[in-house]
Amino acid sequence: MVEFERETWATRIGFIAASVGSAVGLGNVWRFPFQTATNGGAAFLVVYLIAVVVVGFAALLAEFVVGRRAGLNVVDAFPELGYPRWRLVGALGLATGFVVLSYYSVIGGWVIRYILGSVTGAYFGAPEAYFGTVSVGVDAVGFHAVFMLLTVGIVALGVQEGIEVATKVMVPSIVLLMVGLAAYAATLTGAAAGYDYFLSPDVGTLTANLGSVIPAAVGQALFSLSLGFGIMITYASYIGEDENLGVDGISIAAFNTFVGVLAGFVVFPLLFAQGVSPETAGPGAVFVSVPTALAALPGGRLLGIAFFGIVLIAALSSSISLLEVVVSYVVDHYAVGRVPTAVAIGVVLFVLGVPSALETAWLGWADSLAVNLLLPLEVLLVVAFVGWVLAEDAVAEIGLGTDGVPTLGPAWLWTVRTVVFVAVAGTLVLGLLQLAESGFLPPV
Ligand code: PFF
Repeated sequence: MVEFERETWATRIGFIAASVGSAVGLGNVWRFPFQTATNGGAAFLVVYLIAVVVVGFAALLAEFVVGRRAGLNVVDAFPELGYPRWRLVGALGLATGFVVLSYYSVIGGWVIRYILGSVTGAYFGAPEAYFGTVSVGVDAVGFHAVFMLLTVGIVALGVQEGIEVATKVMVPSIVLLMVGLAAYAATLTGAAAGYDYFLSPDVGTLTANLGSVIPAAVGQALFSLSLGFGIMITYASYIGEDENLGVDGISIAAFNTFVGVLAGFVVFPLLFAQGVSPETAGPGAVFVSVPTALAALPGGRLLGIAFFGIVLIAALSSSISLLEVVVSYVVDHYAVGRVPTAVAIGVVLFVLGVPSALETAWLGWADSLAVNLLLPLEVLLVVAFVGWVLAEDAVAEIGLGTDGVPTLGPAWLWTVRTVVFVAVAGTLVLGLLQLAESGFLPPV
């Protein structure tokens, strides 16, 4: 490995904005509504909130600890801490990132296409048919390229000048636009049915389906906090020792949850007010149901631009974090320049994403492989590393930057070793069962 001056965040707010930007993504606006809809509406929300507080937050701190203590990318962090064999865990994080970003960028491309479609009103006549046409084929490949180009452009500018500057603008824009849309959605006649669906849990449905709702909620909490990709390890490697990881972690988790719930306050009233069922599960959910509702509203075009504009900003502020994981590894490890690295990896990711842009089944398979296997496995291994290998060192790391105030470090370590480990292991097992059911293999 080559020694040289490593980049850092310019400000603490910069680190928080970048992490929130990463966390708030398609997971909040695309995945969260359809996960909620397929897992019993409000019942899912309750379990999800618990999963974020108990599992997500503790696992987030685990990634932060590894990143800050090592001050290096996800692969070299482990040898740096004195455990060279664990670099395989870092490599798995990189691999997961590759799989996810390849199809995430395809969806990002759909979003760009939908912004244009909102300007011209192209999808208003037949939203479902429109989705069918634009989601696959040459156009989808082209827009996937555009999305990847934007991602590469920001990352190439650097940690401070690119990611930090961009996310400091992107995150407030997402919140402002989303609050505006939620306020508008509240004025629609029939919105109340949407709130009801989202916010009044049906305890009966919940208890009857706990076995599937819990893993879905834990999986969603991990995905939404950007865990299991090495992102939070990488981002924390750019911060200093004077920062309080606990406070930063709480702010990031709370903010991300707030935006997820806010997305529900936009999507569900909008759908219910127009009598559109939220149950259309799968990748197309938001792209069919939301446009169907928009088509029936006066000012639908403007609303569409705002809605898909938010989705695009959210997706970009996440994709840059994933690309940074890989770029940071190559830059740290081989001392190659950031710009050529970002471009080269962008090209590789673009190529890897082409099958998903040509066939939605591929995209679904890649998503299912990542979410059911790669991501929980990576989180489980990082949690095991922090819980049992770093152990007390991890608690000391959490205590840094706390001005001598007694910390909850020991309680956190205990939680990591018990609840978090068991919940993530359970999610992995159920994920594997799900994969086994669909036959593991990619569609050919
Ligand atoms: N937290 C992100 C989200 O909810 O969309 C997860 C993520 C996925 C981050 C893909 C980055 C990424 F490229």
